Amino acid sequence: MTLNPNLKRLEPYPFELLKQLLKSVQPPSSLKHIALSIGEPKHPPPEFVERALEAAIGGINHYPTTRGTESLRSAIAGWLTQRYQLPDGSIDANTQILPVNGTREAIFAFTQTVIDASLAPTVVSCNPFYQIYEGAAILAGAEPWYLNCTAENDFIADLDSVPESIWRRCQLLHLCSPGNPSGAVMRLKQMQHAIRLAHRYNFIVVSDECYSEIYLHELDPPPGLLEASATMGNADFKRCMVFHSLSKRSNLPGLRSGFAAGDASLIDNFFLYRTYHGSAMSPTVQAASTAAWGDESHVVENRRLYREKFTAVTTALRGVLSFPEPRASFYLWPETPIDDITFTRELYRRKHVSVLPGQFMSRLANGANPGCNRIRMALVADTQECLEAAHRIASFVEEI
Ligand SMILES: Cc1ncc(COP(=O)(O)O)c(C=O)c1O
Repeated sequence: MTLNPNLKRLEPYPFELLKQLLKSVQPPSSLKHIALSIGEPKHPPPEFVERALEAAIGGINHYPTTRGTESLRSAIAGWLTQRYQLPDGSIDANTQILPVNGTREAIFAFTQTVIDASLAPTVVSCNPFYQIYEGAAILAGAEPWYLNCTAENDFIADLDSVPESIWRRCQLLHLCSPGNPSGAVMRLKQMQHAIRLAHRYNFIVVSDECYSEIYLHELDPPPGLLEASATMGNADFKRCMVFHSLSKRSNLPGLRSGFAAGDASLIDNFFLYRTYHGSAMSPTVQAASTAAWGDESHVVENRRLYREKFTAVTTALRGVLSFPEPRASFYLWPETPIDDITFTRELYRRKHVSVLPGQFMSRLANGANPGCNRIRMALVADTQECLEAAHRIASFVEEI
């Protein structure tokens, strides 16, 4: 039997590593477990989406098309235009948008579409990073190249640190803004710099914007790659692809609904790939997604809940742990007074709180591992539970 040799190059998934780390640890049974390890939204989903799902249940009687319904693509085009102040009509719902079953599968699949393994390609990404960027690059036959995101660069990848020889082989650059795990937000100018580099070296910029709607200052939404592209005159979004999702925006991680948008020629190839891959979105999910993209009030309310929670938790932890002031996403990315793996294990053993060690999300690059001595805390549970976890963490830090 043969095996794709690249499968052996895949790193263990972070949650697998966490399971191994905690499996023989006995936490105190008197304390209820609080999980801050997994980034799964826990706020309630919008009721009107549940109703839209029920109303469209008849859709399960039909095969979906890869392209998706016109009403879904129009709802997405409208949302993008309003959210990123794109010129009216600048995004074509027919040629520049494709519905996807969440950004995870889409980013993975898109990578397979564009990598030409015969050219010794590199895929450049932030470090730490969402594991899919690396796995998708490896399985496509590319070599990952990591850009350390640290306090020194405000947790934004320094594109100018990439050697010319790497840019020459680069076929894909992954941006993640707002960032997982740091919550750092790229400025428009930084995105435009990435696009200019893409034109100079002939690569594609993928911008994972699945946390774009969770931001803490209501009047300061994170910019996006399409906005960066339009405002610099790259009006047809050449070499740019963005990925968005309802998972975080609308608390619908189980719906598996998102979209890819950008350069029409890239969408065209992605469409061809998806036709064969068979990853069309269920008609029922498409109807519910159309309703979700068309409403902002639930998203505003969702942000209010996160803001309240962030205020409570950061107040409780300030002076206990040092962390970058969060701007967006639902993560805190604090430094740990002892190494992150020991911190995670002992915190679980003594306080029954699970977090993710930073180095499970990062690689050694340029002589340093930017995840070492940091943990990722996902503030997804309700405020009371997150606050209880923060108090337990504070007392744990005092004890060690
Ligand atoms: C940075 C990032 N991108 C993409 C995803 C995938 O989200 P989904 O597939 O639910 O859209 C996640 C999920 O946690 C994530 O953290």
